[in-house]
Amino acid sequence: MKKDIVTLWDLTKEDFDSLFRRSLELKIRLKQGTRDTPLTGKSLGLIFEKASTRTRISFETAMIQLGGHPIFISVKDTQLARDEPVRDTARVLSRYLDGLVMRTYSQGFIEEMAKAASIPVINGLSDLYHPCQILSDILTVMEKKGTYGGLKIAWVGDGNNMAHSWIEAAAILGLQLVLACPDGYHPDPSVLNRALKESCGEITVTADPEEAVSDADVINTDVWASMGQEGEAEERFKAFEKYQINSDLVAKAKKDAIVMHCLPAHRGEEITDEVLEGEHSVVWDQAENKMHIHKAILESLLKE
Ligand code: CP
Ligand code: NVA
Repeated sequence: MKKDIVTLWDLTKEDFDSLFRRSLELKIRLKQGTRDTPLTGKSLGLIFEKASTRTRISFETAMIQLGGHPIFISVKDTQLARDEPVRDTARVLSRYLDGLVMRTYSQGFIEEMAKAASIPVINGLSDLYHPCQILSDILTVMEKKGTYGGLKIAWVGDGNNMAHSWIEAAAILGLQLVLACPDGYHPDPSVLNRALKESCGEITVTADPEEAVSDADVINTDVWASMGQEGEAEERFKAFEKYQINSDLVAKAKKDAIVMHCLPAHRGEEITDEVLEGEHSVVWDQAENKMHIHKAILESLLKE
């Protein structure tokens, strides 16, 4: 039966661990010059409604390296933009493609496509979630810290799509996650409540960024205004002023803490240039790991 990743709840802890193991193996083999091509002859569609540098190009490269072909599909150039129903598009694309990555505003769009498609559908970011990014981010944590367990992981900033996927990962893997978000920008209660109910970890939300980063092993942040929220930027900047990741805040964390940002970053807003370019930052390795985890995801979902 086909499997989708529309949210991290689609994966078990065993699935996470197996994706981490395989992506590290593929990463080592690539660096040794070995090419693994288990997806020869397969095609991957990428339906994007929003801009992307990393997710699009790392999925495309992952597919090419695995021997397959990526096909980029801009929604506005398809009949979806002229109201062809999603369920019809899903059934037609399932006759051509072997898998689909989607980046959309609405999470419902991805879920509707996944329901009607007979091929795997992968969430490459929606307004609600960014599951593949968090898989890749935890892979980076494992590389830098040797494990994802027993660490204090801080999220500072907006309770947004990235925060939601971190919350789900924390629930599934049993992580200690502390989120510092200003009033009015907390994570979606339905996302948080499900995670708290089913969690085997420790998830807390505070308004205090110092409390979140105090003794933390990992500090995460993201933009204050996500794609689609550009009109709210000014009010958001005021609300998030005290939530900037700067050297003073990083000094409250463990000495060997790592600082993560999914990118693109807005230097001088959610993170200072000094921290982004500084010794704690792992953002470039984090960006690279997107490709390695995407290879493991594609292989696990598309290989016969
Ligand atoms: N981190 C991330 O998803 O980046 P892109 O928007 O460039 O894909
Ligand atoms: N929260 C950001 C992530 C970008 C990769 C956004 O949705 O724009």
